[in-house]
Amino acid sequence: MSILEHEQTKTSAMPYALRPMLPEDTQAVAEIEREAFPTTWPPTPFRKELHNRLARYLVSYVPSDDDGAADDASPPAAPPPGSLLGRLLQGLWPRAGRQHVDDDGRRQLIPGYVGMWFMADEAHITAIAVREQYRGRGIGELLLIGCVELSVLRRAREVTLEVRVTNDLAQSLYKKYGFEVKGVRKRYYTDNNEDAYIMTTGAIQSTEYQREFAANVSEHARKWGDSERVLTS
Ligand SMILES: CC(C)(COP(=O)(O)OP(=O)(O)OC[C@H]1O[C@@H](n2cnc3c(N)ncnc32)[C@H](O)[C@@H]1OP(=O)(O)O)[C@@H](O)C(=O)NCCC(=O)NCCS
Repeated sequence: MSILEHEQTKTSAMPYALRPMLPEDTQAVAEIEREAFPTTWPPTPFRKELHNRLARYLVSYVPSDDDGAADDASPPAAPPPGSLLGRLLQGLWPRAGRQHVDDDGRRQLIPGYVGMWFMADEAHITAIAVREQYRGRGIGELLLIGCVELSVLRRAREVTLEVRVTNDLAQSLYKKYGFEVKGVRKRYYTDNNEDAYIMTTGAIQSTEYQREFAANVSEHARKWGDSERVLTS
C-alpha cells in the first residue's frame, strides 16, 4: 500500500456509528436478538429495558449521510413512510425492522447492538450481536469499544460477561480488549446445558488498561475508519 493510500485509509470515516438505543430501534434490535440468540426465551423486552435504570443499550447504525449506499449488502430502501406506497406497505416491507426513519425522513439501518447492566462498580455486558450479513466489518469491535468507553465514563472498575465455552470467535474479540477467563458457570445455557466462561477485564480506569485500549481503538480506526460514537443521550 502506498503512503497516500495509507493516509486515505486512516482519515476515512467508518460507515457505521454508535449511539444509545431509541424506542424506534427496539424492533430491529429484537430481530437481531432472534437471529443471534434464537434460543433466548422469553425475548428481552427492549422497550421496557429503555426505562431500566441499571441497563444501557447502544446500537450501531449507518449514518444517514452514507445512506448505506456504499454497502453492497445493505437491504433495499423502504418506501418513504408518508407516501401512499409507504402506507400501503406498512407492516409488509420485508426488512422494515432493520430500517428506521429519523425525524428528517432519512432511513437508518441497525446492524448490531450491545446491552449492558451497571451494578455498583461493575459493568456487565448482557448481549452483543451483529446481524449475520454485517459480521466481519469491525461492528462487533465498535460495539465493544463503546461498552468500555461507557463503563469508563460511568466509573465502573471492570467489565465482565458470560460467553459460551465454544464461542471462540467472541472470545477472541474479548481477549483483544483485555478480558480474561476468571471462572466457569456450569450448564449456564439451558438450551444445550453448555458451560459459560466468566470473562472480565482488568482495572479499566488504570493507565495501563487505558494505554492498551487506546492502541486498540487506533488500530480499529486505522483498519475500518474513524467512528462516530455517542454514548449517552
Ligand atoms: C461476536 C460478534 C458480535 C462479532 O461481531 P463482528 O462484527 O463480526 O466482529 P468484528 O468484525 O468487529 O471483529 C472483531 C474481532 O472478532 C474476532 N472475529 C471476528 N470474526 C472472526 C472470525 N470469522 N474468526 C475469528 N475471529 C473473528 C476477531 O478477534 C476480530 O478482531 P480482528 O479483526 O482484529 O481479528 C458476532 O460474531 C455475533 O454477533 N455473533 C453472534 C452473537 C454472539 O455470539 N455474541 C457474543 C455472545 S457472548
